[in-house]
Amino acid sequence: MKSHPGAPSQLDAEYADPTALRVRIETHRRFSEHPHDPQADVLAAIDLAGTEYLADIGCGDARFLASLAEAGHQGPLVGVDTAATMVAAAAIIPGVRGILADATRMPFEDNTFDILTARHMLYHVPEPAAALTEFRRTTKPGGTVVLVVNRPGNTPRIRELITAHAATYGIDPTTAPPYTVDSESLPPLLEAAFGTAQLLYRDNALVFETPEPLIRFAESLFTFDGITPGHPARPAILTDLTADIEDWFRYHPGEAWRDPKGYLVATSKVAV
Ligand SMILES: C[S@@+](CC[C@H](N)C(=O)[O-])C[C@H]1O[C@@H](n2cnc3c(N)ncnc32)[C@H](O)[C@@H]1O
Repeated sequence: MKSHPGAPSQLDAEYADPTALRVRIETHRRFSEHPHDPQADVLAAIDLAGTEYLADIGCGDARFLASLAEAGHQGPLVGVDTAATMVAAAAIIPGVRGILADATRMPFEDNTFDILTARHMLYHVPEPAAALTEFRRTTKPGGTVVLVVNRPGNTPRIRELITAHAATYGIDPTTAPPYTVDSESLPPLLEAAFGTAQLLYRDNALVFETPEPLIRFAESLFTFDGITPGHPARPAILTDLTADIEDWFRYHPGEAWRDPKGYLVATSKVAV
């Protein structure tokens, strides 16, 4: 998994608008073979009393923080993200602060948080070990850090199809933002940063019985295969891919499109 200089700006473009993220979240919720609820797994891992100072790093559209606030969490809640739109989504929730910052350089004192969560974001950070050091620095001794990352090569069938179509328009997949960490490479990093971690693996699959939700999901992944939001070939690639997916369902009547996926919930304690 290599890093390259183009990665941050492509990610900025991807997360300037929450629409694609929302399509992915909704697709996983509706089209998973087994129940898919990483938020419930994180809540089970942190076992909140309701008064903790909690930071959610890479907070996205802040639905996790919103659910905590709605549930009556009394302690301070803060959402950190590199995308201004996501920070704004956090900041409009009563009782939640939104902070525009990078996970590797956060404007917080040492030993600030009781709980720090970083859900489905660490793989976007070019130096995940540096983010873990920052998570440990800002979390109190005895505090809890919970991370969610994907298993390697999630949904390989649709990713291969997207990459193949992108290649016909000269798009090199290695120009896409790389995934810097996954469920296999995270545990040794946690071991180095925190000493230990509790690991919960969730294996699952996306299953589509009709083309439309698969096409929408594929489009929501385009940036991660080098097809950026403003790329001139993007509409043509979407047209070609749509035809291909519709053909697949036409030629496989009664069959569902199944694509394996999964994630790891890793929980570490900061040593006292
Ligand atoms: C896949 S989304 C996950 C959002 C949310 N945590 C969730 O699970 O729905 C990744 C989020 O991490 C943010 N992000 C990416 N790199 C980051 C970094 N270095 N520091 C902070 N946030 C980052 C993105 O802007 C985006 O909102």
